[in-house]
Amino acid sequence: MKIVPKSPNSRSSKTESLLPSTLPDFRKPVSRSRSIRIDFGAVALRPESLMDKFVIRGGNPLVGSVRISGAKNAALPAMAAALLTDEPVILENIPDVRDIQTERNLLVSMGAEVELGYGRASHRTTISCSNLGNPEAAYELVKTMRASTLVLGPLVARMGRARVSQPGGCAIGARPIDLHLKGLERLGASIKQEHGYIEASARRLNGGHIIFDKITVTGTEDLMMAATLAQGETVMENCAREPEVIDLAVLLTKMGAKIEGAGTSTIRIQGVEKLHGARHRIIPDRIEAGTFVIAAVLTGGDLTLTNCDPTHLGSLIQKLEEAGVRITAANDSMRVTNGHQLIAADISTEEYPGFPTDMQAQYMTLATQAQGTSLITENIFENRFMHAHELVRMGANIKVEGRRAIVRGKTQLSSAAVQCSDLRASASLVIAALVADGETIIDRVYHIDRGYERIEEKLKGAGAQIRRIGEILPKRAQAPSVVA
Ligand code: EPZ
Repeated sequence: MKIVPKSPNSRSSKTESLLPSTLPDFRKPVSRSRSIRIDFGAVALRPESLMDKFVIRGGNPLVGSVRISGAKNAALPAMAAALLTDEPVILENIPDVRDIQTERNLLVSMGAEVELGYGRASHRTTISCSNLGNPEAAYELVKTMRASTLVLGPLVARMGRARVSQPGGCAIGARPIDLHLKGLERLGASIKQEHGYIEASARRLNGGHIIFDKITVTGTEDLMMAATLAQGETVMENCAREPEVIDLAVLLTKMGAKIEGAGTSTIRIQGVEKLHGARHRIIPDRIEAGTFVIAAVLTGGDLTLTNCDPTHLGSLIQKLEEAGVRITAANDSMRVTNGHQLIAADISTEEYPGFPTDMQAQYMTLATQAQGTSLITENIFENRFMHAHELVRMGANIKVEGRRAIVRGKTQLSSAAVQCSDLRASASLVIAALVADGETIIDRVYHIDRGYERIEEKLKGAGAQIRRIGEILPKRAQAPSVVA
């Protein structure tokens, strides 16, 4: 199916223009089976999905197997990379999560054509940016997903200008993008910030030398993309080494870019005149895999994760083995078997290959079930302990002091009404509810839909007692019918 920018009065059965100049309107997505699903923009969540909750009855071991989806944090920069060429980029193993829908709408709002696969090809997306008319990322989109700022570098490099909303604050920290802007300036772009927007422009970027003050994942990705079309060579130091950065470099190289050193702290990019189209399969989601590993451990299950890459989870596996967990890893699968006596083990979050901050919340839930005291230090984000207060409501013994949390275990968790505050915090609460005694109600699960594909169906398939409940809001009179 193809989503194209609207031309007045055009309407055909298979195409639907999404974005009038202002924001997309809400409409109810079509059912998930073989019929085509049309989503009018993750920003415009189904009104009722904002009310969705999970009801989870704890105590069931997870057994069988779960297929891991493609990595959200690899898919988002890969989709932005399509802006660098006027030829189609075909991406496979794209997870069906809200942030991907937001990214699609962002690209369509600029004039890109986005084709969604369905049925067996439902995780494939073809993006064609041959007709980019509007190099702008609007506030309404950026405010729901900061990763929208990943379009900045590609737009300046390809179009010579970009207007991108400042992302603003986030539940887990201030998360400025100053290092992205500094890097672009070092490549010769002129940057203006006014009315909440960044205006960046350059006739053509020039290769340069960038030393990041701090390791930044999307900063490395954004500038690596920008440098591919710059005049001359760019050397970037103190880069992020995440698997998602490597995956992006693999895609860019397939598009004709000249990149060396991705995955190390020094990346060299030789700029080229033009990039071409490519086909690329996105790597598996290591954070989704890690989340299911901890859920299996805590429910005392016997679970095999397929379509994953255990080598991307070295630090987590090592830490879990330290805590008494046995994991059998193979090429593209991992098996967690039961019968663990969990012992407390400290963690501190670091840049890759250190312990991932995106697994900190889930690990905190595990620490509540381990014998002894675990010290959890969050070094990446300044406000990433929101889940701790909700876990305490479920009976956990956790004390937060600034960027450190002291977890005393083992304590019996009991069901309670809790609410999600951000994506990974939501995952930690779902895991806690799978262990807790009784039926837990988790509110604001729209946070988890941003980065986990149909988590309740995957868990149910492995034996969990979980259901999604949504409040059906009264239909708004003027809501138009949806084309199926
Ligand atoms: C990426 O965010 C991930 N998001 C995050 O995953 C992840 O938590 C984070 O990397 C760290 O691993 C995507 O890839 C889309 P950073 P990013 O720039 O790139 C500071 C999830 O749950 N900083 O590496 O935004 C920043 O405030 C999400 O999937 C600056 O000061 O993170 C933070 O303290 C959450 N100035 C630190 O650097 C900048 O210009 C690392 O942030 C950029 C970052």
